[in-house]
Amino acid sequence: MITEYIRIFKARGWMKRNMPFLYTWHAYVGYELNLYSAFKKPKTIEEVAEKYSLQKDLLQRWMDVGVAISYMKKGSKGRFRTIKKIMLPASKNNPSSSGAILKEMMELHIPTLLSYPSVMKTKEKHTFNEELHGTVVAQTSSMLEQLALRKISKLVKKNNVQTLVDVGCGHGGYLQKLAEKYPQINMYGLEANEEVSIEAKKRSEHVKRITIEHVDAFEWYPKTEIDFVMVHNLLHYLSTEDRKKLFTHIGKWLSKGGTISIMTPIQNGKHGQQFSSVFNSFFSAYENLFPLPTKEEIGKIAKHADLSISSYSPIVKEAGWYLITLEK
Ligand SMILES: C[S@@+](CC[C@H](N)C(=O)[O-])C[C@H]1O[C@@H](n2cnc3c(N)ncnc32)[C@H](O)[C@@H]1O
Repeated sequence: MITEYIRIFKARGWMKRNMPFLYTWHAYVGYELNLYSAFKKPKTIEEVAEKYSLQKDLLQRWMDVGVAISYMKKGSKGRFRTIKKIMLPASKNNPSSSGAILKEMMELHIPTLLSYPSVMKTKEKHTFNEELHGTVVAQTSSMLEQLALRKISKLVKKNNVQTLVDVGCGHGGYLQKLAEKYPQINMYGLEANEEVSIEAKKRSEHVKRITIEHVDAFEWYPKTEIDFVMVHNLLHYLSTEDRKKLFTHIGKWLSKGGTISIMTPIQNGKHGQQFSSVFNSFFSAYENLFPLPTKEEIGKIAKHADLSISSYSPIVKEAGWYLITLEK
């Protein structure tokens, strides 16, 4: 009898712990199908199902969950509307929507974490598909820009930077924002993913001093010395050996006293271990992605490249994300 109670007690515990998933699932579906916009003004399930060609009973189920978690509100005459909750993602065509993070979590991270039993048993890791996921990954990592930009901008000013490179620049957000403040600096964005580099070019075309190149950073050589190099959210694309090679390569670009800023979650860091450990579990399930660096590894990479660590501090404490600077 007592074991039966314990079983139920534990099952209830797991169900309760899983409650936050309802909110993420609802927001993901709402973002993917633009449903929060569809129900901005009160509408019936039938109206929306017909207009967007959606299966009616499933739309109703999604709505039922929405009402239960107070994301949606039932009005008169069978109509429903979206509640103006600050946490809800804006629609897909709004560039400031937070929806890309839901897409990355639900389509990439969670399925990968769920595949752990089979990957562990078969010992066959996944292959990260750059073409499929490159754009959403560039979108989500750009969300950190806002948090890091002030510190990066201070470093650029303090070091009187004249030439700057962003290695793995994604959509080039750092370059575009820094160019607004420092229009005299010559900036280069290097991006290995063609589609991502095309988008970066498009977004930077109004700024004369930004040059975006579709290139592997290992094969790029500058024409002049570089004062500042950003390596943000890139280390998980490289093995430990390649990290050493990359920093030795970048070290040769740098002017005397030049700086490299690294942004990455740190494995077993002082802060945010819950997040960084699960992020690490995600990367480790791919044969072409690599575990996060530890603080010790960054020290070894710097030493190998004849550089010294000049600062090391968390940029998003709860996620274990750090900003580290190396100097020549
Ligand atoms: C996660 S994104 C980060 C983008 C941007 N740095 C940021 O922090 O928002 C990393 C980018 O690095 C690019 N990348 C990976 N390895 C590269 C290499 N060897 N050379 C140039 N780009 C690379 C990837 O294609 C990807 O777009």
